[in-house]
This record gives sequence, structure tokens and C-alpha cells, in this order.
Amino acid sequence: MTAVGIDAIEIWTGNLKLDLPGTFAPEKGEDPEKYTKGLGLNASSFPDSYEDIVTMGANAAHRLMERKGLEPDDIGRIDVATESAFDNSKPVSTYVAGCLEQVFDGDFHHANKGERKFACIAGTQSLDDAYNWIRAGRNRGRSAIVIATDTALYARGDAGEATQGAGAVAMLISEDPNLVELSAEQGYGSADETDFLKPNQQFPSVDGKRSVQVYLARMREALEDYESVAGDVHPDDFEYAPFHTPFPGMVRKAAMLAYRHVIRDTSVEDELADEIGRQPRPEAFDDDEAFREAVREYMDELKETEAYQEWYAETIDPTLSISREVGNWYTGSVHIARASALKHALESDRDMTGERLLVGSYGSGAQAEIHSEVVQDGWEDEIEALNVESQLEARYDMSWADYEEVHDVHNHDMDVDVEEFTAPESEFVFDGWGRMGERKYRYVE
Ligand code: CAA
Repeated sequence: MTAVGIDAIEIWTGNLKLDLPGTFAPEKGEDPEKYTKGLGLNASSFPDSYEDIVTMGANAAHRLMERKGLEPDDIGRIDVATESAFDNSKPVSTYVAGCLEQVFDGDFHHANKGERKFACIAGTQSLDDAYNWIRAGRNRGRSAIVIATDTALYARGDAGEATQGAGAVAMLISEDPNLVELSAEQGYGSADETDFLKPNQQFPSVDGKRSVQVYLARMREALEDYESVAGDVHPDDFEYAPFHTPFPGMVRKAAMLAYRHVIRDTSVEDELADEIGRQPRPEAFDDDEAFREAVREYMDELKETEAYQEWYAETIDPTLSISREVGNWYTGSVHIARASALKHALESDRDMTGERLLVGSYGSGAQAEIHSEVVQDGWEDEIEALNVESQLEARYDMSWADYEEVHDVHNHDMDVDVEEFTAPESEFVFDGWGRMGERKYRYVE
């Protein structure tokens, strides 16, 4: 069977930056290490006054199409995943296509367009839709563009304010892809949860501590479900494990639980037994609390072992490098984790062709999904083409006063005008409102 997967990606960051330890922490009266060490974040990306989910998504897709030498006729499907949409009817993909039609000859009139919503997991669900469309033979030889774009802003003063971010990832989904093949096997962990939601409101209602527990519970279910179709996962099976990263500290917690799970009944558990004993099994305990306490003690010791620390440093830590500098991109977050991992592989000369990734996506409300990916032999060229580092470098570093203004500009309930902080160049910009309340966009050379 021909491989189907991600042929290429492009990343577009919001043009502003908020320094968390340097600018945010002092204003909040917090120790900077709460951000750098606790949450694992150095900075958040923010949209300038002329940026939004459409401009960032269209800019990422424009770069993708130009770099791959694509015309609108090559694309049979444009899906946008977002949890920052501003219209309950007209999908963001129509705006994005409208932007792209300003700069390409031809149009996307015969492309199927849509918008996917399930919090942060919608980006991965859109990949599934594109995969299924190609597998079903409905693509007429064309590729799909999937765009994950979000302005992940929280209300001022919310605990989530430290984990904000803004950016887009555009992905080209094709037969015989250059970057990764997606597995047919998937595992799900899904339940009706009230941890993070936006009932017709711009900023989320969040139960932060609970959201962390729900992430872990659903991810564990998804892993078990994945193993039920793909067989048991062993820590050596995967070169990297990119996970949804609302902030790196979240992935640190998930990685610890995942490691305990995947080493159970393996030679790794046996080898560690002399040092820290075997994992507690529930049947050996009279009550649940005693079992949980024993697990906590085991985990504390497991965390300190060389085996765990090496696995974490090689398999997990490299997935977090972009996230540390940009914060949460919601739907795009797991896709920048994959990009971080492959950038790390390129920079450390790892030969990745044929190697596997274990990818864990998550959306509040709540659902986790796990699948695997096989890296394809064009991966090096695709990753080398990314310019994410220079984009991050070029961001304008906001003062606290700038940040307060920018947050207000993007607050739908406020009517504030602010001079832009950066000068747009070769990109789409927001250009005001049309007569039916629609947003207008223009390309700036
Ligand atoms: N030095 C080192 N570490 C420090 C520190 C210091 N001086 N001060 C605090 N820390 C550590 C804390 O110990 C904690 O780490 P552990 O959890 O490992 O103990 C970490 O820094 C964060 O500190 P707090 O828990 O005190 O932080 P908080 O109460 O301000 O809020 C949060 C944390 C609840 C995650 C909040 O940022 C939040 O609500 N975020 C939004 C929700 C979210 O991202 N949830 C994640 C799961 S849901 C999801 O994934 C979907 C999504 O994208 C939103």
C-alpha cells in the first residue's frame, strides 16, 4: 500500500514575544524559575495588531506552497483546525483560501474546505480527515493542506496567562510523503470532561489543576487503546515521542507516567529491580490508597534513575525546544513538537529514515489520541527548509506596557487601536472590516 502522511510543514509564529522570566515574572511578583523550570517556558509568541489566525495560517500555507512549487490546482482540500475562530458559520479555511488566491494564479474553487473543532486535538483530527480522504481514493491525485492556527490567549490574571502563545503550522498531506508516514493504527482516550472550555466566549474557562489530571488520564487511556491494536510499546521502539505541549512541564509529567507504563514487564523493569525494586501491582495491596502511595514512591525513585533520565533526554526533551520559546499554540502544539524533534535529529546527525515517532495529541473536553509515524527519506531536506529560528529571533520583545496594549487589541470585547510594533513584510495582514462584519486581508510585499 502506498504510504500516506505529511509531505512538508511550515511554521509561522506571531511577530511579538513576551519574555516570561524577564518581563512577566517580575510583574506577577513570581520567581522567574517558576516559568523556566516549573512550567519550562522562556517566552510566549503573540500576534501583532495586524495578525490573527487567518494571517498566520495563510502565511504558513503560502510559504508551504511556494517552497513546494504548488499551484491551487494541486490542492483538493483545505482544512483549518482552530479553537480561536471568530465566526460560527463561515470557516477560517475560506478566508485562508481567499488570501492565497491574492498571490497565486488560479483558485481553490474545487477544493473541499472545512474547519475542525475539538480543542487542541483538532489539528491531528484534520490530519486524519486528509489521510482518510486520500486512502478512500477521493483525492484525484491532489494533496490536502491542513492548517493548525491559534491565538491562545487567556483572560488577564488567569493562571493560564503564563502559557499563552500564537502561531500556525501548515502541513501538506500527500501520497508517498517526504516527511512522515502516518500509521493506520490509532488509540483513543475520550470522555465528557469540564476542564477547559469556551462556551461562546473568547477566553477559556479553565480548571487548570484538573486539566492537568484529565490530560494524564486520557493520554493513558489512549496509550492502552493504541497498544491494543499495535502491540505493546517498548521504550526503544521510538526515536522521539512528540506530545501535545501546553507547556513543557506538562509533558514532563506525562513522560514519567508513560515510561512507567511502557517498561512494565520488560527487561528494563527487570534491570532496574536491583536499584529501585519492581513496580507496585494493585493485587499486592489491600486498599487503593496504599497502592497509590507505593506508586508515588516508585515514581520518585524511577525519576532519578539513569535509565529514565537518558530516555527522557533523548526521546522527550528534544521535542520541547520550540515550545519553550513560543508557549501554547493549541492545535499546532503537537506539530511543533514533531518539528522540534526532527530539527534536533538533523542538528545531531541522527539518521532518521525508517525510524519511528510516537505521537500523542490531546484536546480538552477531552480526548487524547496516539498514533505512530515512520520518518521518510526526504525528511532532512524538509526540516532543513524550516526558518523557524530566524522567525523567533526577529520577534519584537514587548515591554509590560506593550503586552497590556496587545492583549487589549486582541480582546474581542474591547475596541482599542494600537500602532503596530513590527513592519509586515511579504505577509498577509488584517485590513479592517467589510460591510457584513467580515474580516478583510491584504498581502504586503
Ligand atoms: N522554581 C521551580 N519550579 C517552580 C517554582 C520555582 N520558583 N515555582 C513553581 N514551580 C513549579 C511548581 O512546582 C509546578 O510544577 P509541578 O506541577 O511539577 O509541581 C509548576 O512550577 C507550576 O506551578 P503552579 O502549579 O503553582 O502554577 P499555577 O498554579 O500558576 O498554574 C497551570 C499552572 C494550572 C498549569 C496554569 O498555567 C494553567 O491553568 N494553564 C492553562 C491550562 C493548561 O495548560 N493545562 C494543561 C493541560 S490541558 C491541555 O493540555 C489543553 C491545553 O492546551 C490548554
